[in-house]
Amino acid sequence: MQKTKAIILAGGSGSRLYPLTSIMSKQLQPVYDKPMIYYPLATLMLAGIQDILIITTPHDAPHFHQLLGDGTKWGITISYAEQSAPRGIAEAFVYGKEFIGTDQVCLILGDNLFYGKLDFLRQAIAHNQGATIFGYPVQDPERYGVVEFNADGSVISIEEKPSKPKSQYAIPGLYVFDNEVISIAEQLQPSPRGELEITDVQKVYLQKKRLKVEKMGRGIAWLDTGTPESLLEAGEFIHAIEKRQNLKIACLEEIALRMNFIDIQAYQSLLETLPNSPYREYCKRVLQEHLAP
Ligand code: DAU
Repeated sequence: MQKTKAIILAGGSGSRLYPLTSIMSKQLQPVYDKPMIYYPLATLMLAGIQDILIITTPHDAPHFHQLLGDGTKWGITISYAEQSAPRGIAEAFVYGKEFIGTDQVCLILGDNLFYGKLDFLRQAIAHNQGATIFGYPVQDPERYGVVEFNADGSVISIEEKPSKPKSQYAIPGLYVFDNEVISIAEQLQPSPRGELEITDVQKVYLQKKRLKVEKMGRGIAWLDTGTPESLLEAGEFIHAIEKRQNLKIACLEEIALRMNFIDIQAYQSLLETLPNSPYREYCKRVLQEHLAP
């Protein structure tokens, strides 16, 4: 069976978050109690993906290495690539060519947060042909890629940040592509704004009738964190749920254990490396509950 690999795209200039991003990249900023990149990483791990490439800027690469390492501690493999300038999301597949090899690939943007049952992603991965993207109703679709459906639910158009959106359905930064995405990305021409657009990749799949667009249900929360306000709102969202449930969202140690990426012994050793902190206390509690559910 074909393997699924994943890329987290975590480069870009983060200029909308300046001065926060003058020293530290957007995807390392806190979303309540964890660095932002923990959330997309958790999404991938919960979907069962263990082979992950993180694309960062050359400036930020050392910080990501320091934070995440090679992933062994969580039972995953993290490799890194550097994008020298933000030439577009679709360039991820050019940088990721060797990493992807002959497999299919899931791409998640490092500033996109998903919360809820991830069956939609697991199903897209299992589908394993063409491309699967998602549609999510938002109040401000003009900020995103927008997908238009006709009455029978089939896709009519895809547009990047249209001034007059044809629907309310934004396309979240989470996509599953078959291996053809590499050659499609390699043949792409930059858009008028000078970027290799992910929506242009989607349009090629649409033309070939190999694009599946799934509406993401209302039970899923999709948040992006590209502006100071949306970053704050994402933090408030995570805080509200964590406080209410007394459980953590995107605790990578917990996910590694629950997904059986690491065994109890490895988890215990990992606990020893964590500094004395509420986070460590939480991880200890997870272990106790795991041993005596
Ligand atoms: O959030 C979903 C939206 O993401 C989609 O609906 C759009 O179709 C897609 O183009 C994208 O729109 P954004 O305006 O949010 O893209 P942005 O330029 O902010 O890039 C998204 C993330 O990807 C950001 O964290 C930085 C990173 N990035 C972006 C580019 C263009 C890179 O790492 N390298 C790049 O070259």
